[in-house]
Amino acid sequence: MSRVWVPEVVFTPTDDPTWRLSQVGYDPLRKSSQASRFAVSNGFLGIRGERSFTRGRRGAFPNAAYVAGLFDRTGEAGGVPVLLPIADWLQVHLQIDGVGFVEDPADAPSHRMELDMRRGMVLSDCIHVVGGLRARTRTLRLVSLRDRAIGLQLIRMDMLDGAQEVFLEASLDGAHHGLVHRVTEPGLTLWRTRRSGIEIAITTAPTLKIDGWTSAPRTIGPLRSVWAWKTQPGQVVEFQRIVSVARAGDDAAAAAHSALSRAVRRGPAGLVADHETAWSERWACSAIEIDGDPAAQRALRFAAYHLNSAANPSDAHVSIGARGLTGSDYGGHVFWDTEIFLLPFYCAVWPEAARALLMYRFHTLEAARRKAARLGWRGALYAWESADTGDEAAPPFSIAPDRQVLGILTGTREQHISADVAYGVWRYWIATGDEGFLREAGAEILLETARFWVSRAVPEPDGRRQIRNVIGPDEYHEGIDDNAFTNLMARWNIYRGIEAASLLQSRWPRRWTELSDQLGLEAGEIDQWRIAAETIETGFDPGAGLYEQFAGFFDLEPIDLSRYAGRSVPMDIVLGRERTRRSQVIKQADVLALLALLPDAFVEDAGKRNFSYYEPRCGHGSSLSTALHGLVAARLGETDKALDYFHRTAAIDLADAAAAIGGGVHIGALGGLWMTAIHGFAGVAYGEEAISFAPRLPPGWTRMAFRLQWRGRQVRCEIEQTNRLTLVLERGASMTARVEERDLALDTGCPLEVPLDGLSAVKSVN
Ligand code: BGC
Repeated sequence: MSRVWVPEVVFTPTDDPTWRLSQVGYDPLRKSSQASRFAVSNGFLGIRGERSFTRGRRGAFPNAAYVAGLFDRTGEAGGVPVLLPIADWLQVHLQIDGVGFVEDPADAPSHRMELDMRRGMVLSDCIHVVGGLRARTRTLRLVSLRDRAIGLQLIRMDMLDGAQEVFLEASLDGAHHGLVHRVTEPGLTLWRTRRSGIEIAITTAPTLKIDGWTSAPRTIGPLRSVWAWKTQPGQVVEFQRIVSVARAGDDAAAAAHSALSRAVRRGPAGLVADHETAWSERWACSAIEIDGDPAAQRALRFAAYHLNSAANPSDAHVSIGARGLTGSDYGGHVFWDTEIFLLPFYCAVWPEAARALLMYRFHTLEAARRKAARLGWRGALYAWESADTGDEAAPPFSIAPDRQVLGILTGTREQHISADVAYGVWRYWIATGDEGFLREAGAEILLETARFWVSRAVPEPDGRRQIRNVIGPDEYHEGIDDNAFTNLMARWNIYRGIEAASLLQSRWPRRWTELSDQLGLEAGEIDQWRIAAETIETGFDPGAGLYEQFAGFFDLEPIDLSRYAGRSVPMDIVLGRERTRRSQVIKQADVLALLALLPDAFVEDAGKRNFSYYEPRCGHGSSLSTALHGLVAARLGETDKALDYFHRTAAIDLADAAAAIGGGVHIGALGGLWMTAIHGFAGVAYGEEAISFAPRLPPGWTRMAFRLQWRGRQVRCEIEQTNRLTLVLERGASMTARVEERDLALDTGCPLEVPLDGLSAVKSVN
């Protein structure tokens, strides 16, 4: 009987290359991007994808590791709270006859690292030659999707030649200096954040086996353990480290201890198996299959891999930062990215995760009320950048490359965030019909954000309401009036507030009485809301069929962006801040973001007109921009263009071409990529009565298949380029599917095959 912990096959990556991301060799210039791409995360723990073996000196290659919600103010970033990295629990240092095993990573004759997205883990395989020793080293790392407190590292070394003295040190290093270290006992390390007082406990159980026999460490301590032995050809050495991490107001130690004993009892093979099962359950709901375009297939797997990794349905007090748990850019802060770019994915394939994200907004509603009140308005104005408490976490300034101090105004002026949160609440409600959520949490968010906008949109002498001095999604133009995106989203938000009030009144009158008392909603206030919504300025020019992005935009200097094709820096750097402000160059989809979110606000050919007007003016200075352009182009039937945007979006994190990704993957862009595929090419739209489909596959995609959840149902959808849509209701009660404007009944056990041109021949297939 084999005494190895895990069979060798566990180190073998999935065969199909579209499930893998591979890195062969070592490129120091790309190592930080690779560390972002190859990060593993489970919504609670995250660790970047550096190598485990350090160069001899400790901490030379720290893998930044994160825990969701571990925020503190550190004096950096203008004093706002940032996500603090915990100790790197993957570090291993090996010496062969006194020589570092990895003196120079480039010297390894072969090195291959794989992100196995299907199995949710990172594997590596390498031949090392040091002195007279030749060894094959394979590693595996994961953070468990079944038990989110647990991380696992496995290393297997097959000694091929040489008899040498080996020294292996496993350490726990590199915690942020803002974490005050308090060691209590062997195997357990405790830290506490200096100001926010959050306790973090890490317990670890590193063990080494040589040829199946457990080897006692030479020294053992809370932060490092050391083993020493002599190799011989044919020897098999296994190193295993299980870690458990707990975050708590207090007594994190007890939580970490009990998680660790659970995991140790299960053993590494069991942990790997449980994790793989949890991942296959996630993939069963969220995989998109694409035939005909392997690059698109891999990109969508990569997007879903990181999206599935970023969320934690069981923690309603954290949300997903702009880089998930894969890097430190933006201090781990949560932006509109979550509600607008991530939530569509979660609503459709993981409603429990969507609910937790929205509950985070509910738990931070008080902070949003404080912010509105501080700035002189009523209701709730969410933080543009949100951390743990929900108080504004946008840094007040930044230092430009020329060392100038630049004020950052988004924290007070980028207010569309409140409508974006409301949009997320409503989207979730439509997609799930979760009455408990709407009644107990969602309605309050809708009412309080609506109330904010009513107080914010001030009537002018002519009776029109204007929203002055804001920043829209296009952050190149600050302090503008009547941003069409902000104003129309505000109007939409007010209407949803009114709708939430009437839903409560009719369905749950007791709750309505309680909530309206609690919020001090006066009689007649809701009627005032309707008047406010009806009179908000929209900036629509009926003659041109265009929304003006903000008052005065049409008069700004037009710039021919095609003259700057091939530039390697954003347009505001090319032109300088001042000229950019005076120009029509847009940072990212703004009116086009409106077209993506509220298509009904674009009647007749207004969608096409606005697209043709705004697309050439966009410099795509945000990673969120190309995804929305792709989505809109796909809906308008411009599939070639949409496919081009799709691949540009995919390249943000998969190629080292566009934005820097060393600070983490652009999780919003990855969500946007999913949106382009599902809401663009597959033409899926969620309604209260039905899911609609208006598919238009791009050139090359011969088939697309995926599953969606909607109001307690699960539907399998398959679109063929030969113009056929097949729908199978796999779970839940009979429902309506609206295909190209026609309502069709979809029943369990009765798949629908729908020809996409000319619906006459709809067939039920048994
Ligand atoms: C974009 C914002 C975005 C933020 C975080 C900024 O550069 O302009 O729209 O929310 O990055 O992704």
